[in-house]
Amino acid sequence: MQPKKKEIVLSRKQIEQKVKEIATQITRDYAGKTPILIGILKGAFIFLADLTRNIELPLKVDFVRLASYGEKDYSTGQIKLIKDIEFSIKGQDVIVVEDIVDSGYTLAFLLKHLAKMKPASLKVCALIDKPERREVEVKLDYVGFQVSGFLVGYGLDYSEQYRCLPDVYRLIF
Ligand code: IMP
Ligand code: MG
Repeated sequence: MQPKKKEIVLSRKQIEQKVKEIATQITRDYAGKTPILIGILKGAFIFLADLTRNIELPLKVDFVRLASYGEKDYSTGQIKLIKDIEFSIKGQDVIVVEDIVDSGYTLAFLLKHLAKMKPASLKVCALIDKPERREVEVKLDYVGFQVSGFLVGYGLDYSEQYRCLPDVYRLIF
């Protein structure tokens, strides 16, 4: 299904400002530590890249790839781990970096998976939250914005389109 139009909901300036605020908070909260940021591919790649360059701490970065959506615009609740992390997080401080939290199934699945590896701490940083769509409870420690609708840009896609737009748009169908 092709969208009729798209309307801007978050400008690159607003996002830049918010990324700086979150990075400052993380810098404070993790002072003296070397957190591992785990980005969820593909959607979080731009947010993670911007975050890491604003956090004033030594950091490690890793990625996971999960899938549930395919070409659909809602979660099936069936999550698959396509790519796991590549180094041990045992006893480490982990921050999961997600683009957008919708039903919560993806994060709930990943947090359970990572918790088994016994990190010292496990927190979540999400750029966008859509709380009204939640099906399973997940605790978000750092959240940028609450925005409803189906969003694209700044890493977010619709069937692999629009990912590289610098601003975030709501698609109107
Ligand atoms: P959840 O498992 O339903 O919370 O979905 C999370 C994943 O679905 C995110 O990591 C995104 O990849 C995708 N997703 C959810 N909402 C949107 C949206 O509005 N635009 C683009 N992708 C979305
Ligand atoms: Mg995602």
